[in-house]
Amino acid sequence: MSFYDQIFENNKKWLASKKVNNKQFFAKLAEGQSPDFLYIGCSDSRVTAEELMGAEAGQVFVHRNIANVVSTIDLSAMSVIEYAVTHLKVKHIVVCGHYHCGGVKAAMVPQDLGLLNPWIRNIRDVYRLHKESLDSITDEEQRYQRLVELNVEEQAFNVLKTAAVQKSVLATGFPKIHGWVFDVGTGELLDQHIDFSKKLNNMKEVYNLAE
Ligand code: CO
Repeated sequence: MSFYDQIFENNKKWLASKKVNNKQFFAKLAEGQSPDFLYIGCSDSRVTAEELMGAEAGQVFVHRNIANVVSTIDLSAMSVIEYAVTHLKVKHIVVCGHYHCGGVKAAMVPQDLGLLNPWIRNIRDVYRLHKESLDSITDEEQRYQRLVELNVEEQAFNVLKTAAVQKSVLATGFPKIHGWVFDVGTGELLDQHIDFSKKLNNMKEVYNLAE
């Protein structure tokens, strides 16, 4: 059986398993969603958002793109953040990057990627911002890993800089912003423990954020 056909067999088994302990599982889901989490991660097939978090249907609002980029001119990402913060009132927003990220790797090499150029440039900009510290790492693998971490940090700042998040944080203290890295090679999820409140104060005069 091809994987394509198997998918529908898998689906039947999955929905049956959900109903074993809770007959109303899907009826309940149909009533609506109120997730506490917005997860912004990479599209990479190895980084399975809900599965790696052990999350159930209804618990996590998800946005994925190449190399977990949060760009203010990306209508899709901005709409997801706006909806998650203003309507779903999520308590946490996570930007989750991952080691062995092809998008981040692509940004480390000078090459023409066609339509992908402007997208990958978001990550090249992260490299430029941290060029000095990155260039001081002689081991290429370690430099690559560090760029993954710094990309998470910068994209998380981009989340923090959005008007929706600013207004909500000032009014309620939420959402909390987190930066995570998933290690594809070990399966481990690593909290980067970034002190966003401190960095936010330093950014105020630059980005003219709401008082
Ligand atoms: Co990736």
